[in-house]
Amino acid sequence: MTKLGVLCSGRGTDLQSIIDAIQRGELNAEISVVLTDKPNVMALERAARAGIKNICVDRKKFSERADFEAELLKNLAGVDLVILAGFMRILSPEFVRRYAGRLMNIHPSLLPSFKGAHAHRDALAYGVKISGCTVHFVDEGTDSGPIILQAAVEVFDDDTEETLSARILEKEHVIYPQAIKLFVEGRLKIEGRKVKILEG
Ligand code: GAR
Repeated sequence: MTKLGVLCSGRGTDLQSIIDAIQRGELNAEISVVLTDKPNVMALERAARAGIKNICVDRKKFSERADFEAELLKNLAGVDLVILAGFMRILSPEFVRRYAGRLMNIHPSLLPSFKGAHAHRDALAYGVKISGCTVHFVDEGTDSGPIILQAAVEVFDDDTEETLSARILEKEHVIYPQAIKLFVEGRLKIEGRKVKILEG
């Protein structure tokens, strides 16, 4: 069984979509641990409710990023795939290299547009008519790794960050479990910048 380690910073609805897919029998994987970089966040509660080991590795308690990451790595021992689900920190090149090809992120825009921490705001400010979300392998850049799956949504004139993010989130909850399923089934082949999806 593929073992997942999920890293979150807050609400944890993407985490919940993965928990739900596993519970529905759609995703043949198990979440070994949920780690957060902040205390008292919903993601910890969601994991606890599902009976999943959950640990806060509070970033504020570490003066050096290397020590923070060493603690994350310690808690990820034995995990096959690391899932960033609303994890709002940049991981070091050393961490990323360690999990090369086994580290996924979801970002709320159609990459390479609107990288960074304010994707919805930036998409609205730019005036795009279509936005969406992207699941990608993480490389040493920010939101720049090979793309696994994307889903698009319409952007309306009266959209706010809240309404747009809610519409995109619905798609996130579909494509993140799907991308993980493809990984679990050994159907993702990274070729340079591209991810080929092999026939099932
Ligand atoms: C999601 O919209 C995810 O795409 C985004 O944070 C949100 C987490 O929601 N991630 C990023 O912006 C990463 N740069 P959640 O805590 O409810 O899963």
